[in-house]
Amino acid sequence: MSILTILEFPDERLRKKATPVKNIDNNLQTLITDMFETMYHSSGIGLAATQVNVHLQLLVIDTSEEKNTPLCLINPEIISKDGEFEYNEGCLSVPLSFEKIIRPGHIVVKGLDRNGEAIEIEANDLLSTCIQHEIDHLNGKLFVDYLSPLKRQRIKTKLEKRHRMAGE
Ligand code: NI
Repeated sequence: MSILTILEFPDERLRKKATPVKNIDNNLQTLITDMFETMYHSSGIGLAATQVNVHLQLLVIDTSEEKNTPLCLINPEIISKDGEFEYNEGCLSVPLSFEKIIRPGHIVVKGLDRNGEAIEIEANDLLSTCIQHEIDHLNGKLFVDYLSPLKRQRIKTKLEKRHRMAGE
């Protein structure tokens, strides 16, 4: 297993649109295992392949307190959404920033699990938010896109400064 490097805003590679997974092979299994490892290591609750510079429709999530409920979704597609849920969102690609975002609080999503079996999940509140946040990544979208241009610019400036100081 290995810890993967997570791209950080405003890296343009986070804007790439992911393509559907066609082959669920050993390479993909290794990637999924590494993505879980990277997410748990970073204390995140979700990670999309886009964030580790792999532009495939693949995401991993674990919103449980005990970190014992891994969920892997391949080629996810939201088939219904309703309600509202507000959450103070953060993102491993946007470190140190948290902002309240309102999203549909109830969704039904379909896709494949890591074995290629078709699954359909009904999700509420935090899980619903998390799935939508990760699917946004696959479409090249970040939670900062929901904020005002001023707020987004402030976050961008803060991270660019951080990257300069890290010598990146
Ligand atoms: Ni994120």
